[in-house]
Amino acid sequence: MCGIVGYIGSREASPILIEGLQRLEYRGYDSAGIALQNGMGLKIRKRAGRVQELAAHVAANPVQGHMGIAHTRWATHGPPTTNNAHPHMDCTGEIAVVHNGIIENADTLRKLLRDRGHTFLTPTDTEVLSHLIEEAEGASLEERVRNALRLVEGAYGIAVISGEYRDRLVVARQGSPVLLGLGEGETFVASDPTAVVEHTRSVVYLEDGDIAVITPEGYRILDGDGADQDRPTDAIDWDIASIELGGYAHFMQKEIFEQPESLRNTLRGRLMRDEGDARLNGLQLTDEEIRSFDRVLILGCGTSWHSALVGRHFIETLAGLPVDVEYASEFRYQRPLPLKNTLAVAVSQSGETADTLEAMKAARERGARVVGVVNAVGSSIAREAHGGIYLHAGPEVGVASTKAFTSQLAALLLLGLHLGRRRSLTVEQGREVVEAMAALPAMIEQTLKLDDELARIALTFSEASNALYLGRGVSFPVALEGALKLKEVSYAHAEGYPAAELKHGPIALIDDDMPVIVVAPADHIFSKVVSNVQEVRARGGQILVITTEGNRDLSAVADREVAVPATHELLSPLLTVVPLQLLAYHIAVLRGCDVDRPRNLAKSVTVE
Ligand code: G6P
Repeated sequence: MCGIVGYIGSREASPILIEGLQRLEYRGYDSAGIALQNGMGLKIRKRAGRVQELAAHVAANPVQGHMGIAHTRWATHGPPTTNNAHPHMDCTGEIAVVHNGIIENADTLRKLLRDRGHTFLTPTDTEVLSHLIEEAEGASLEERVRNALRLVEGAYGIAVISGEYRDRLVVARQGSPVLLGLGEGETFVASDPTAVVEHTRSVVYLEDGDIAVITPEGYRILDGDGADQDRPTDAIDWDIASIELGGYAHFMQKEIFEQPESLRNTLRGRLMRDEGDARLNGLQLTDEEIRSFDRVLILGCGTSWHSALVGRHFIETLAGLPVDVEYASEFRYQRPLPLKNTLAVAVSQSGETADTLEAMKAARERGARVVGVVNAVGSSIAREAHGGIYLHAGPEVGVASTKAFTSQLAALLLLGLHLGRRRSLTVEQGREVVEAMAALPAMIEQTLKLDDELARIALTFSEASNALYLGRGVSFPVALEGALKLKEVSYAHAEGYPAAELKHGPIALIDDDMPVIVVAPADHIFSKVVSNVQEVRARGGQILVITTEGNRDLSAVADREVAVPATHELLSPLLTVVPLQLLAYHIAVLRGCDVDRPRNLAKSVTVE
């Protein structure tokens, strides 16, 4: 949510900043801006709308300078206008700030600053920071930033430049990600490695409370008291091709088609065929600890919450442990009852979702042992967790999550297997799951061949403004995910329902035009689902069934049917979700929607 880029070095900063913003646009895309320092004060360019609009504005009104900061916004305080776009300045025009996060005591601080004579040009919380830095005492920019931040409550990742200090920019982190990219005679700053990978693979992730001074030669990291801090240098382990379209029309499409590969990467080195086990060294749990758990709690938001719902089936079946799944945003405000002997699992693609981060901290305070299931290496959730499982799915750029979902399912399966083998799952039972998992990437490849058929089916559904998605058991969360994909990218209203619950209300919605998409693989509950579909059939509805190859003929109950390869009953969600992703994608394209940047959404939600 909101992207930040900064540069200091010998090259012209503005093209580097704009390109960085384009890479970060998936984090927020309602307005953008840059500030450059060129020895003659600060130069600012801002625009409402996409980064493209800013790029055109800068092309028409160029700015020169070898250091600068930039921002792409997802509005929280104040509408997405050019005036409210970052960077925000102080009264003197000497200080510019870009900010990701929310300053919770902004109103109090604004009042205080107004009383001291400061004039505000916007209602944003970020502008408060610029005036606070203007007001703060200190012999250097970093000291002034540090003194200003002492008064601030809330979450921030900020980058600051000043007309007065021509040799440095200052960044700080509390709750929102900031990393440094180390080049030769140039240094970068970003909220996300995608913005710097083109220039360097050496990155340093800041920790909460860090303030860093950046120069072309390098950096110095200080804590809130000005003491030097040592942070490790990490290497980005993917390359620029992973964040380019490479012949696909959209990132969502590319990422759907990458799933055989992303899944292979999630499984690589982790399947222990002989032992029927999963190698998960990153979990950092001893066998004894695993045997001491009597409950698992999985936390997540959005698609990650759907993964958690599927994960419950995996862990309950394989490890015999009761599993609760909570929306992270709800869990964090629940009564703080103790969580003894509980393994809490925080699921997050970005590793930066504010609610998930806070929920995992709350779970830890309540006594749980917390592990992460995270895609973004070095992200906040990964670093807060006791241990975890990285997805290794590669960067996900499309705002609608696709490949991260299937990799999350694979990671939760590995977790179920690992826990199960240290509890009551036998080698033979474990081997059966391991074999089935090893076959999944090729089966997803097979499933992707349904693309043309789903593009045709999309033609018949593209005008509908409502849709129902049904499933039972392990397929119910798949129905929820299918409905979410459609809502996110095509703006059609869709609901996921447990198929048997239909008759308790939603069946009233069904008429001849209502698309009803049923996830019904050949499992132990299949015949029950068929009865539920018959209830729809009797009332109209355009029925599409996602089932298993070789399953019984469904032509009597379904208008259309697509079949995925047969797998272990527990693993079907990794296949049945693929046609739903393709269907949502094609419907969105037919409706002329901006598939990769749906309105009002952001890839990573770093505010409450
Ligand atoms: C946002 C995204 C969703 C995502 C959710 C959780 O709402 O638009 O696609 O599922 O955040 O994100 P996370 O990074 O924690 O998985």
